[in-house]
Amino acid sequence: MSVEQLFEQLWQDYTQRLCPSALKVQKLLTHKHEQPVNDHIALRTFSGSKLGLAQLAKHFVQLGYQQAGEYHFESKKLLAHHYQHPEPQYPKVFISELCLELCSDNLKDIVGKLIHDLPHQYADDVRFLFQGRPWRISKQEYLSLAQESEYAAWVGAHGFGANHFTVSVNELSGFADLEQVNDFLVWHHFEMNHSGGDIKGSAEVGLQQSSTIADKVSVEFSDGELEIPGGFYEFAKRFPMKNGELYQGFVTASADKIFESTNRGS
Ligand code: NI
Repeated sequence: MSVEQLFEQLWQDYTQRLCPSALKVQKLLTHKHEQPVNDHIALRTFSGSKLGLAQLAKHFVQLGYQQAGEYHFESKKLLAHHYQHPEPQYPKVFISELCLELCSDNLKDIVGKLIHDLPHQYADDVRFLFQGRPWRISKQEYLSLAQESEYAAWVGAHGFGANHFTVSVNELSGFADLEQVNDFLVWHHFEMNHSGGDIKGSAEVGLQQSSTIADKVSVEFSDGELEIPGGFYEFAKRFPMKNGELYQGFVTASADKIFESTNRGS
């Protein structure tokens, strides 16, 4: 599978299952036949040898990606790495994992049961990255995970797929900055994530980000259906560093708030 094919599969899964509104946003932001440039995508998982960050990352590494940054989110108990490809036109990949060893016994029990029956080689086939949820989960288990960690509940309910795609505002014609993009989307009745301000980050830290609130999508649980937050669409503008090159990393304080785009209360 080529880099292009992998991102195409991830985009199909993301727009069909997790964030159908992204198609509408994309149409509004671009001219006919134009595809916005993706700054990055984000993937989520649970720590551990079976499905941990490294198990997701290895498929990107095989395609030439290299690890570039490491980020810690203490209160959310998350660890993240970002990966870049030597070909700068390929999107960066931001992969996080919930550190299960820092979670309660109740959360560990539920997650342990979810992944218990998966074969140890489950993550060896790259297709798992866009095939959704490979386990059964009840509404009760979902809600119990959500009480402790919105992130755990999200992964428990949706499994694997892109949590968000991110439009590179630097490459977007017709919009000078993130304010214009946000205003335009609000005008078109999209709801933005206000946590940490509508725009997270600044030129000084090299990166500004904003995002929509996650789409509400219908998910089948073992004991019925629930409407819950799915994926969201993000917008990023990068700024030059002292050496003149655009900053390519991520900003922990901003990403911390971006995670909250999938909170149930939002
Ligand atoms: Ni992001």
